[in-house]
Amino acid sequence: MKTIALTVDGVAVTVVEGASAAAAVAARTHVFHHSRTGHPRGPFCGMGQCFECRIRINGRLALACLERASSGMAITTGA
Ligand code: FES
Repeated sequence: MKTIALTVDGVAVTVVEGASAAAAVAARTHVFHHSRTGHPRGPFCGMGQCFECRIRINGRLALACLERASSGMAITTGA
């Protein structure tokens, strides 16, 4: 099984090749961002409809459930 290395909030994370960016973030934390009222939020639908998995990938706003993790990717939570 081949693995790839990336970072989530500056911390090194390793996931299997083909994993989603959501899986990479979940390897580090279950909190992808916070609601306006301060509640922790994370993936709900897993198919790009709820927008609860918002992250930034190399500075670009993205939905973690729709992005494939790639080597060297820099993911930031809290988007
Ligand atoms: S989990 Fe719902 S949009 Fe990603």
